Amino acid sequence: EPTLRESFEKDFLVGVALPSSTVDGREVDAATVAGSQFSALTPENDMKWASLHPHPERYDFTRGDAYVHFAEQHHMKLIGHTLVWHSQTPEWVFQGAEGQPADRELLLARMKDHIDTVVGHFRGKVHGWDVVNEALSDSPGEDLRDSPWRRIIGDDFIQQAFHFAHAADPTAQLYYNDYGLAQPEKRARAVRLLQRLIDQDVPISAVGMQGHYSLSWPDPAEVEKSIIAFHQLGLKVMITELDIDVLPSRGASGIADIARTEASDPALNPFADTLPATVSQQLADRYTSLFQVFLRHHHAISRVTFWGLHDGRSWLNDFPIRGRTNYPLLFDRSLQPKPAFEAILRIG
Ligand code: XIL
Repeated sequence: EPTLRESFEKDFLVGVALPSSTVDGREVDAATVAGSQFSALTPENDMKWASLHPHPERYDFTRGDAYVHFAEQHHMKLIGHTLVWHSQTPEWVFQGAEGQPADRELLLARMKDHIDTVVGHFRGKVHGWDVVNEALSDSPGEDLRDSPWRRIIGDDFIQQAFHFAHAADPTAQLYYNDYGLAQPEKRARAVRLLQRLIDQDVPISAVGMQGHYSLSWPDPAEVEKSIIAFHQLGLKVMITELDIDVLPSRGASGIADIARTEASDPALNPFADTLPATVSQQLADRYTSLFQVFLRHHHAISRVTFWGLHDGRSWLNDFPIRGRTNYPLLFDRSLQPKPAFEAILRIG
C-alpha cells in the first residue's frame, strides 16, 4: 500500500501537526507513522511565542530545534507556527512601564525583535511561516478582531509582521492563517484583507484555511468557493489544521457554542467507549468529499495538514469542552489507520 505522502506527491504536500513528545524520541511508534506517511510537519505548540520566548530576555529553541532535526531526518517540509497571534502569547508582550499597556513603538520593537530572532534562528530550515494567525473578526460589520496587537499598533500590525519576517528570511514562504474561512462573510472579510496586502506589496505567498470542521459543517461547496476566491487573488491556498469534530455540537457559523457546558453530561460525550461504525463511516465520507474538492483544485493548493496524528492526542478531546473522547483524525488511539485513512488513500 502506498503512503499518504506518495499518493498526493503530484498534488500537494500532506502534513501533520505533532507535539514535541513525538519528535524528541519519546513516542517512537507515533514518530514512525508520522515520518513515513507525511511530507510536512507543523509544531502543534512549540514555535508559538509563549514556547520560544517566555520572558523578554529569554529565547528557548530546544524544543523547536527537535522539529528541525525530525523534519530533516524524514524529508519533511517544516512549517513555522506562528509568529503573531493573540493567543499563547505572554502577557508581558503587551505591557509597558508601571502597569500601563505598551505603546505602538514598544510593541512594534518587540514584534521586530521576536521575528528577527525566531525567523533568523530557523532561517533556511523553515519552509514557510504562519506570520499572522487569526486576525479577522467573527462579528458582522467588524473587519479585524479586537486584539492587543490591533489595539496597540493599529491595523497595520499585519503588514509590519510580514515585512519583518521577509527581511529576516527572504527565502521563506509567508502565510496568513485563520479559521472559519469557508463561512461566506468571513471569506469576504479575508478577501478584502488579502487584497489590501497584495495592493500594498506585502510579501505574502499563501493563505492558510485552518480546517477545523465538524461532521455537519461546512458544506464542501463553501470550502471550494473559498479556495477559488483566494486563488483568484494570486495566492496559493493551504489547508493547515484539518480535523473533523464528531461530537455535538457547533452552531451553523462553525463557532463553538457549548463552551459553558460539562463533559460529564453523557449527551455531550456519546462515544466515550467506542465510535460506532456508522459514525466512523460518516467521518470517512466527510474526508472523502473534502479531498475531492482539494484534488479538483490541486493547482491552487500547496499543502493539506492534519491537526494531529491520532485521536488520542487531538486537541478536540479538550476543546471546546475538556475531557471528552473525540475521533477527528486518520489514526485511532492504537495508531491503527481508520476507514477515513483508507478512504483518502483510495482517491489519491
Ligand atoms: C491548539 C493546540 O492544538 C493545543 O494543544 C493548544 O492547547 C491550543 O492551541 N488554531 C491554531 C492552533 O492556530 O495553534 C491551535 O492549536 C488550534 C486553533
